[in-house]
Amino acid sequence: MAAALQTNIRPVKFPATFRALTKQSPAPFRVRCCAVNSAGKKRYNITLLPGDGIGPEVVSIAKNVLEQAGSLEGVEFSFREMPVGGAALDLVGVPLPEETVSAAKDSDAVLLGAIGGYKWDKNEKHLKPETGLLQLRAALKVFANLRPATVLPQLVDASTLKREVAEGVDLMVVRELTGGIYFGVPRGIKTNENGEEVGFNTEVYAAHEIDRIARVAFETARKRRGKLCSVDKANVLEASILWRRRVTALAAEYPDVELSHMYVDNAAMQLVRDPKQFDTIVTNNIFGDILSDEASMITGSIGMLPSASLSDSGPGLFEPIHGSAPDIAGQDKANPLATILSAAMLLKYGLGEEKAAKRIEDAVLGALNKGFRTGDIYSNGTKLVGCKEMGEEVLKSVDSQVHASV
Ligand code: IPM
Ligand code: MG
Repeated sequence: MAAALQTNIRPVKFPATFRALTKQSPAPFRVRCCAVNSAGKKRYNITLLPGDGIGPEVVSIAKNVLEQAGSLEGVEFSFREMPVGGAALDLVGVPLPEETVSAAKDSDAVLLGAIGGYKWDKNEKHLKPETGLLQLRAALKVFANLRPATVLPQLVDASTLKREVAEGVDLMVVRELTGGIYFGVPRGIKTNENGEEVGFNTEVYAAHEIDRIARVAFETARKRRGKLCSVDKANVLEASILWRRRVTALAAEYPDVELSHMYVDNAAMQLVRDPKQFDTIVTNNIFGDILSDEASMITGSIGMLPSASLSDSGPGLFEPIHGSAPDIAGQDKANPLATILSAAMLLKYGLGEEKAAKRIEDAVLGALNKGFRTGDIYSNGTKLVGCKEMGEEVLKSVDSQVHASV
């Protein structure tokens, strides 16, 4: 029987679940619709972009976890794996083949591993793996990047900050992802009138770009602890002056959210001095890149943190915030939890499949509660495991939820 198309596209609802991933819902977004097969199971098309370095290892594990959690909730997936980054450069000579873009656009959500590696470091800019990632973000118009940083009680000792500073940190960086200096023109390297080379880029934000990311941030803060800190450099940059003006003007529409502003240099300092003062942070592309790496380290390991990049209507892009870690690639040492948690974000934010998402979040906590740790989050008294074994423990943990509920 032909699959009936379910056309009711509904807004995502966010249950109170995992602290790292909840209380942060971008209400303006809409989830994707899906086909329903003859057995009444929902079916989604997912594009997998394993990429480079540890990407393939962690994506294959996350795929298994996604399938398992989905099957327990009557959700099926059809996966299509496509090349991106260095893998695509090696295969077809460009970091983002057109076929990859079409597959991604045609799917319900995209799960990416990581891109980049020593091999392509010296490539010209348009042939760098990173360029492929930026092109993909632009092609999917995923302007809102949500990067949660939560210190899990199980991992407080993995933080490099003192226990009393790190304990209880639960913040969300809302990073603008398709504008600013990353994409601004003019840009380039040229020779000036003195015969000297100059490199230049443009930090530019149009009012509508600021407004739409600010709205996501206000909505996100509203569902968390109601505090939003907008980070800019309005004491120096015109783009930041406009940013602050627009964000301030929008605050009137969100009287329940307490808005504050902070210069980025101060924010970088406050994040390590007293990270608990932050709830939701909204900032531009480049400051968000830097501050989200800093925030991730508070939690102990960048290997734990997922992200969601969302557009107004198309498929979202879900990826761990860590890189391709070429030094440990293929050695079964990577931490797959950030990608597994990105799969949970995919279910929740991308597809509105909150129950399946919660299964994954609980399973991750289950594996951590049993003491399993990859090298990056290992501490005395816990059990050191590799990437595969950690994945298997999460899978077991998903299964045990069934037995527990029988
Ligand atoms: C990130 C990464 C990317 C970025 C790189 C790989 C282009 O650092 O997702 O944070 O700068 O956005
Ligand atoms: Mg980064």
